Amino acid sequence: MTEIIEPNPLLIKYWQIATELNSYSDGGKQEFIDAGQWHYIPSDLEKTILLLKRLEEVNLLPNKLDICDLGIGLGTTMFDLYLQSLDYPHIQFTFTGIELWKPYVDFVNQKLISLWNGNLNLILDDIMNADISKYNFIWFYQPFKVSDKAIPFYHKVIKESLPGTLIFGLDHFQINTYGNDELKQDFSKLEQYVLDDLVLYKKL
Ligand SMILES: C[S@@+](CC[C@H](N)C(=O)[O-])C[C@H]1O[C@@H](n2cnc3c(N)ncnc32)[C@H](O)[C@@H]1O
Repeated sequence: MTEIIEPNPLLIKYWQIATELNSYSDGGKQEFIDAGQWHYIPSDLEKTILLLKRLEEVNLLPNKLDICDLGIGLGTTMFDLYLQSLDYPHIQFTFTGIELWKPYVDFVNQKLISLWNGNLNLILDDIMNADISKYNFIWFYQPFKVSDKAIPFYHKVIKESLPGTLIFGLDHFQINTYGNDELKQDFSKLEQYVLDDLVLYKKL
């Protein structure tokens, strides 16, 4: 019999508040089109369901996790991970989100931050300025629409992350199609894991 997993009521509340902003309509905004960037579309929550438990099962959960979402938007995905982290009191977690679009940062600060109980470090900045070495769990979900922006971003993440870092969001197809030889070589040195339909990479 298939087990039915009910979402945490706080996650439902967060999701409902986040949808008040109607970020889907931002796709037509000239700023996003000109910058070759995606607007806020939350990643599919089915991908992160019980993610920490699944990582623990394959021995990928260290005892300190510094998590960063590069292009956090309104943060629903990270909030899901934050709620999951409450089941791991023996693990030290930090949560950081970097976001360039000020209306998203303002909305989180006004309407959602109280649900985080002081546990989100939200930074208004371009992810290309991020200090990747500060985190050992890097999450992103399609910040860039165009490969000439995505490829340098992937290269930055792969080059600057420290050994042991878990990286979610790298596009294997895009790297192999548009990456130069150096990027392809750096990418091939990452260890790939497939957890159900979620692919992640570990920097060796
Ligand atoms: C498709 S959404 C993903 C949201 C979230 N990471 C998730 O997994 O649910 C992409 C986000 O990246 C942000 N973004 C795009 N380019 C960025 C940049 N250069 N610096 C910071 N944020 C950026 C967008 O504003 C948007 O909120």
